[in-house]
Amino acid sequence: MSAITKPLTAAPDQLRQFNVRKDLNAVADLVETCFADTLDEDGRRYVDQMHAAARNPSYLRWAMAVAENVPMPFSGYVWEENGYIAGNLSLIPYNYQGKRCYLIANVAVDPAYRRRGIAKALTQKAIRHAQMRGIDEIWLHVRSENSAAMNLYQSLGFVERAQRTTWEIKPRAHKRDLPNNNAEVTGIKITQPSRRYWERYREWLQLIYPPELTWHQPFQVTALRPGWTGGIYRFITGNHIRQWAAKQGPNHIGLLTWQLRSRHADHLWLASAPENESRVITALMPVALEQLNNRRRILLDYPAGRAILALHDQGFRIQQTLVWMRLT
Ligand SMILES: CC(C)(COP(=O)(O)OP(=O)(O)OC[C@H]1O[C@@H](n2cnc3c(N)ncnc32)[C@H](O)[C@@H]1OP(=O)(O)O)[C@@H](O)C(=O)NCCC(=O)NCCS
Repeated sequence: MSAITKPLTAAPDQLRQFNVRKDLNAVADLVETCFADTLDEDGRRYVDQMHAAARNPSYLRWAMAVAENVPMPFSGYVWEENGYIAGNLSLIPYNYQGKRCYLIANVAVDPAYRRRGIAKALTQKAIRHAQMRGIDEIWLHVRSENSAAMNLYQSLGFVERAQRTTWEIKPRAHKRDLPNNNAEVTGIKITQPSRRYWERYREWLQLIYPPELTWHQPFQVTALRPGWTGGIYRFITGNHIRQWAAKQGPNHIGLLTWQLRSRHADHLWLASAPENESRVITALMPVALEQLNNRRRILLDYPAGRAILALHDQGFRIQQTLVWMRLT
């Protein structure tokens, strides 16, 4: 395909609804091309899954039937010119706290077709699609260094609501040379979580992992509740966790939870008051990582800009920082 410089004059058939059966393979190719610079292990797996799904007729039939009802990218719009799909936008429907929402994702325009207003036209169409369905909120997230996309979304009325960093620790990157007893270092005792402190843990967890930013994650606050109530919930939902609490004097000041995931990477959920988080990390992390035996990759989703030095010191590295934006 050659570079196109003429301004956008949208024929109605150029901007059309995404058809998962017909378009998935072409869209997977486009996403692969457009995100080549930032595709990590998880991104590559995502593209591979799209290609594999595109070859599976029964999966495609199911995807067509549920497109507007499951939180997956089976709905959206494409920009097509002469049979070539040059632009894509996926709409992922989801619910949280009784609200019906869409996440705009996979916004991608072939490099040879950029700066002609294609992404803008796709996003405006997606907004109209959501508004006509009476959707409560429209969200998207964008890597913090992607100023082109940020300009685009801001020009359409999206406003930043939060920034989140995904921290990663690879197997065997866990530190080995830290003292075993971090209580001596920080004046903090490591103990079992206690049911008595659940309300406090929950308060911290809800501030750090608010539902509007974690609905797509395997995070369920009840699954982290110590004692039999949480135990029954974990048994029913198949959650497997381990927990460590940080105690200073008589008070619990932090909770760290490790959650086993069957695929890809395990998760850590960290809860404490902001003023204690670095000390809690320094005290709890070496113990937790040692006991977990560093066999698998572990991810920690955390508000951006917080506890950076403490997490670096424990061997964590930033995988990405996402800016979450909502249409006002
Ligand atoms: C971001 C992307 C989708 C933009 O596609 P596009 O069709 O070229 O964008 P548009 O022509 O509709 O641009 C609309 C507005 O976005 C902003 N914008 C787009 N590209 C830009 C760039 N390279 N630098 C600065 N601003 C840019 C401008 O405000 C632009 O308006 P203007 O042309 O009147 O100045 C495209 O560059 C792309 O596919 N990038 C790689 C994948 C990606 O980052 N996707 C976004 C993930 S959230």
